[in-house]
Amino acid sequence: MIEPPVATRGAPMLTVVVPCYNERPNVAPLIAKLDAALHGVAWEVVYVDDNSPDGTAAEVRRIAQTDPRVRCIRRVGRRGLSSAVIEGALSSSAQYVAVIDGDLQHDETKLPEMLGALRTGRYDLAVGSRHVAGGDDAGLANRWRHILSDGGMKMAQYFLPVRLTDPMSGFFMLPRPLFENLAASLTGQGFKILLDLALSSPAPLRVVEVPFVFRERVAGESKLDPLVLAQFVGLLLDKVFDGLLPLRFISFALVGALGVLVHLVVLTAALKLLGLHFEAAQAVATVVAMVFNFQLNNDITYRDQRLRGHRLWRGLLVFIVVCGFGAVANIGIANTLYETHTNWTIAGAIGAVIGVVWNYAVSATLVWRAR
Ligand code: GDD
Ligand code: MN
Repeated sequence: MIEPPVATRGAPMLTVVVPCYNERPNVAPLIAKLDAALHGVAWEVVYVDDNSPDGTAAEVRRIAQTDPRVRCIRRVGRRGLSSAVIEGALSSSAQYVAVIDGDLQHDETKLPEMLGALRTGRYDLAVGSRHVAGGDDAGLANRWRHILSDGGMKMAQYFLPVRLTDPMSGFFMLPRPLFENLAASLTGQGFKILLDLALSSPAPLRVVEVPFVFRERVAGESKLDPLVLAQFVGLLLDKVFDGLLPLRFISFALVGALGVLVHLVVLTAALKLLGLHFEAAQAVATVVAMVFNFQLNNDITYRDQRLRGHRLWRGLLVFIVVCGFGAVANIGIANTLYETHTNWTIAGAIGAVIGVVWNYAVSATLVWRAR
């Protein structure tokens, strides 16, 4: 990234994006700390608040009354760390954007060092890291979180095109034009925005890591529990048991079992309440159960690669076709076994297992990996 020859007038040098949810007591202290740390830099701060019930946005606006460097984006009807960061960064006209947590856990005094490194033009991305010499993740709530965080880090590293010792870090800086280039490829899901950036870049990013000490949270509470942690555990288990019994398969099979229940309920309703013929009732129940299964698998089993928009519809269509074949195989095999005098429960069970394995294997490649 080449520095423009003349300093841009008007737009600040640096926009600090702060995703926040229920961080009211931390707003004023963080702004004061930024002010101290960024002395001599033309900076602004953008709080991106998801309509926190504690009035975080109102607190930001109160300070903005007397400090034009303070801005607030208040989002309603939405939640999400990554998407908040994206919107904040895209609202910037500065030369560089930084992202920092709003709870004072990140070390804002490292911002000038990050900016200095980027301004040499030798790097595309500066990352505050808890895992390089001099960094420390002492502030992570407990030992369990340490294990999760380290495990997640090691796994993520495996897939990364660049060396990032702290790929889950929420503290980083990059040139704003670069962010704009990558923005369209970001998934905007969950909280893995840095990973997302690193994976979205067509050319490996030149990364500089700046060690920092992760501070204890003083006010408010962490929002990344327990669903995020559950996802982490899931990811880890998946890695550990890969090849034996993939976690995804278990999830897929459980969703399938629920689907059977849905099927039976709809079938009963269609027969008894709507008075449909069996074939019609069965067809309605099958479609409802498939849509239900698709939705649940998309939300849970494949949460990390959830399909949206036109991909969702395409995925649903393929899923129905795949499961249609699965059902034919299931019924066909069970029937053959039954006719060759296998006990009907065993015949049925074998048919069902073959059906679910087929559905899982094929939908994993055709529905959720077709990108
Ligand atoms: N707008 C918005 N919407 N902000 C959010 C949301 C959300 O849904 N969820 C969390 N935040 C904000 C918090 O208010 C905080 O400023 C920041 O995002 C980080 O959230 P925490 O809840 O404090 O996360 P943590 O301290 O447990 O997690 C740390 O470790 C993660 C993984 O290692 C942080 O350093 C994360 O940045 C990091 O990804
Ligand atoms: Mn935090």
